[in-house]
Amino acid sequence: MKAPFFKALETNAVATGGMRAVTLDGRALVVCHASDGWYAVERRCGHMNAPLEQGTLVGTVVTCPMHCAQFDVRTGAVSCGPMPHAVEARPPTPRGTQLLEELVTMIAQVPTLPIATFETRVADGLVWVRLPPPSELRPERRALE
Ligand code: FES
Repeated sequence: MKAPFFKALETNAVATGGMRAVTLDGRALVVCHASDGWYAVERRCGHMNAPLEQGTLVGTVVTCPMHCAQFDVRTGAVSCGPMPHAVEARPPTPRGTQLLEELVTMIAQVPTLPIATFETRVADGLVWVRLPPPSELRPERRALE
């Protein structure tokens, strides 16, 4: 039996380029109104679990608000690893620069996993999301359910 679809939101609730966090059947997701349609991904970033709806969506790429890792919302694949914002605002002192470089190195050592994606469909002005059981998720994401 195929997993059921759950009503996520009205299509007019999120403009193109926008995202909305939703909880469906107890699971935290982000519904993305990308340039070519609607997608749903898990809410947690694959790097250190930041809430992805607080990031940005450009085209079909979501950028995490915490360390700027990027994911393709169509597949959940990592498009780019973390790149802390702080690198561009680096303090001018040698010690500050050294500390920041150490921080960047530590952040980069945390693996960034792909994020789970969920099938969507639009009908009657609503976005619906199919939620498979956790056993159908990739093993590394299943462990987080
Ligand atoms: S938590 Fe998302 S990039 Fe680090």
